[in-house]
Amino acid sequence: MSLISFGSRVFRSYYLHVLGRRGCSTAAFMPESAGFDGVSSRSALHEFSVSNSETFWAALARHRLSWMSPFHTVHDCDLSRGRIRWFEGGKLNVSVNCLDRHVQTCPEKVALIWEKDEPGSEVKVTYRQLLEMTCRLGNLLRRRGVKKGDCVTIYMPPCPLAVASMLACARIGAAHNVVFAGFSADSLSERIRDAQSSIVITVNQGVRGGKLTQLKKTVDTAVQSCPNVRHVFVSMRTENPVAMTERDVDMEEEMLKEDAVCEPAAMDSEDVLFMLYTSGSTGKPKGLVHTQAGYLLYAAVTHRYVFGYSDGDVFGCVADIGWITGHSYAVYGPLANGGTTVLFESTPIYPDPGRYWEMVQRLKINQFYGAPTAIRLLLKYGDQWVQKYDRSSLKTLGTVGEPINTEAWQWYYSVVGGERCPVVDTWWQTETGGICIAPRPSEPDAEIIPGMAMRPFFGIKPVLMDSKGKVLTSNDANGALCIAQPWPGMARTIHNDHERFKDTYCQQYPGYFSTGDGAHRSKDGYYQITGRLDDVINVSGHRIGTAEIEDVVNQCPEVAESAVVGYSHDIKGEGVYAFAVLKKSVEAEEGVLSKQLKDLVSQKIAKYASPDCIQFVERLPKTRSGKIMRRVLRKIVEGDTSGLGDLSTVDDPAVIQEIIQSHDKHF
Ligand code: WT7
Repeated sequence: MSLISFGSRVFRSYYLHVLGRRGCSTAAFMPESAGFDGVSSRSALHEFSVSNSETFWAALARHRLSWMSPFHTVHDCDLSRGRIRWFEGGKLNVSVNCLDRHVQTCPEKVALIWEKDEPGSEVKVTYRQLLEMTCRLGNLLRRRGVKKGDCVTIYMPPCPLAVASMLACARIGAAHNVVFAGFSADSLSERIRDAQSSIVITVNQGVRGGKLTQLKKTVDTAVQSCPNVRHVFVSMRTENPVAMTERDVDMEEEMLKEDAVCEPAAMDSEDVLFMLYTSGSTGKPKGLVHTQAGYLLYAAVTHRYVFGYSDGDVFGCVADIGWITGHSYAVYGPLANGGTTVLFESTPIYPDPGRYWEMVQRLKINQFYGAPTAIRLLLKYGDQWVQKYDRSSLKTLGTVGEPINTEAWQWYYSVVGGERCPVVDTWWQTETGGICIAPRPSEPDAEIIPGMAMRPFFGIKPVLMDSKGKVLTSNDANGALCIAQPWPGMARTIHNDHERFKDTYCQQYPGYFSTGDGAHRSKDGYYQITGRLDDVINVSGHRIGTAEIEDVVNQCPEVAESAVVGYSHDIKGEGVYAFAVLKKSVEAEEGVLSKQLKDLVSQKIAKYASPDCIQFVERLPKTRSGKIMRRVLRKIVEGDTSGLGDLSTVDDPAVIQEIIQSHDKHF
């Protein structure tokens, strides 16, 4: 039985003036704000949300979520201690909020449009069907021993059963840990172990860009080193059989035996909803923890107000569910709002570079949300791939994950959006749970400047810090981007490592949430993200720590040590560049070794992390205390040798000259 039969069986500096939604009063825009004193514009509403955060968030939480019991405390937070609690005393179930309440009012409304790899083969799943899938799966998980508080790992491409798996966990009070299906067996294994999962959910094979990937086989390899895993649930994305063992469960067949009704667990607001691993500046990925009510509320309201979503719209977020963007804007935000959301299984260029826009036409997508890297790629193929298709359904265009350069922004705005749709460049992170800085919701005709995330969302108070940890109060300033007060969607901790959470986010600038990004605040007070301040690089919108890649390169027996840096790349935003020092006795052909190292990184982490280039060097530039000077290496790679910066701490300046010369010779 395949997923398909399963579904059918049961179940300029730019100013934007023309937006067509003029003259909308604040209360009509956000009904909850009707009782707020002195609020008559959206900027006043932002002001109110920051200075009266209890009143603001309490009103939204009561209006936007369905509670089993009401909360008694809006928030109880102390950022300096890493203590963040919202809506305590309240009980609710996230799956009820995303499904049951919509089934009551509109059971036949389409919840999911599964845009499968092959264009034109989409599958629609109604709210009634999705609830039924979720309940059957919830019952199956319970039968197989999953209890409230356990964590289930999900290793699946975007598909209805992946969403049902996430919601089934939420229904029975288990946490989920979705691992991007592009990660290697080693990365998956590490995340399963760290999350202490006893159940893994996967598909037999993945299908992307016309190619098959062996996901079940990867899980088999991964779980060899996960003694706690009792069962692997396997659903059939393709007809091709895979080897099954005693441990494996034919998920779709077993679901059919389960009851289609599943009692939702009553969860405390601060119980864990999910964890999601992301890279930091040190080697080990960290499992950021998000909880129930605050996360869901924040995902729902940002989805509604940043994109101008309204009932009946079709929301097209093309991010994979393995990233936070997929969690908040392909799953939780749209479903909490009772919307129709697209699950995109394919790539921007399959079967050709018109894929996104053909899909927009066919599915009548109203909001399209994607990554700058894809926009840059498509721009190079030319306008004809866009113009072939009717994009009149589009109302808002969004980008996320990395800075968008002006050329890509202009193309997105003019060619894709026909100068009709606002482009919202949204800044946020796995840690923030939802969008924190974006052009909307401001007054509908307020300006948007290309490449700028612009304005803080309701409840968000950004600040910039100077190098001494002092808040920069004036405009036209650059600094470390921090957020001055807690908001409901922020991560609560790192799984099993609250100390690391406090160190990384709460103690760099005590009392502020430190984002790790740098930002510029323009003279008009708008924000522009300038990039990471730590050793994290951003490849095609995917985050990876340089230390993680170095760990793998150093595992190669020929390598003595290595240094990895990011460098600016036309399409990917940043590319990965590795410097490797070989052990003295090694006589290897550099081309062969280079390929070996690249393959090793793909195999151990994921394809996107694999270096574009490897330069073999005699020595690495280090400070007198022995720290590798990655900052200098990056400048060399980018050809900026006149701007190497402060070199007063370098141990041996001759090393830098050596590397520059060998770089110029080879690259
Ligand atoms: C990092 C977070 C948020 C979902 C996807 C990535 C960078 C994110 C933007 C933007 C410039 C951005 C930041 C941030 N980033 N959005 N609009 N402009 N940079 O989530 O994997 O947690 O990565 O992505 O550097 O810290 P993530």
